[in-house]
Amino acid sequence: MFASIESRKMDHIIRYWDTFYAGRRGNPEPTSFARFIERRFPDHTTLVDVGCGDGRDTLWFASRGWSGIGLDASNATLVECARRGETFGERCRFVRSEIGRDSIDAALRGHAIDLRKTLVYARFLLHAITDAEEHWFLEDVSSLVARGARLCVEARTVEDASLPKVEAPHYRRFIEARTLEERCRSLDMEVEFMQCGKGLAPYKSEDPAVVRMICRGSGNV
Ligand SMILES: C[S@@+](CC[C@H](N)C(=O)[O-])C[C@H]1O[C@@H](n2cnc3c(N)ncnc32)[C@H](O)[C@@H]1O
Repeated sequence: MFASIESRKMDHIIRYWDTFYAGRRGNPEPTSFARFIERRFPDHTTLVDVGCGDGRDTLWFASRGWSGIGLDASNATLVECARRGETFGERCRFVRSEIGRDSIDAALRGHAIDLRKTLVYARFLLHAITDAEEHWFLEDVSSLVARGARLCVEARTVEDASLPKVEAPHYRRFIEARTLEERCRSLDMEVEFMQCGKGLAPYKSEDPAVVRMICRGSGNV
């Protein structure tokens, strides 16, 4: 899909996450973004968690009665996610899926999903992928949003770049919230909610500056 330099960059990023997750026990607590989204969408039923990491939010939504589908490119994390998800049976699944190579639709194929009750959820994903991957991802999601799904994003912003970090340095592409908003709009995804700032996503001793954004298809309510 991508030229070879871009592919090498993507492979390098995924290797980092494989090493990061190898042998780690998943966090048993959901993020504050997960709780915020659940409160906002009490009638929704399906969460497609793209770049699900250790699956903490996918598993939490499943524990709340939702169908949780976690997608990630890191095999290391998916093994542990699948083990922890067994308790929820068919309602919780984890699938290896790589942005730029696999479409989200392909990962959902064969499963009856009501897109009007589905959230495509991407927490702390956008700053972890390249600009080209973000383009691919938004284009891919926009086809689901056009059919009734919503996109829910939380990501580190440019204001976060100089703030102290807990984890060792690794690839991070801090997000310009207005640019993201424009990209979504240009793909017919209407921004129905946007909030930027600190105090939203505490992580260990960090208080990162983030953007929260929710998009729906223009014409959908
Ligand atoms: C910062 S972690 C976020 C994990 C989780 N969503 C959370 O909030 O804790 C970024 C995740 O994106 C995944 N990722 C990075 N590049 C990817 C790609 N090209 N396709 C799919 N997943 C990718 C990584 O494996 C990692 O799990």
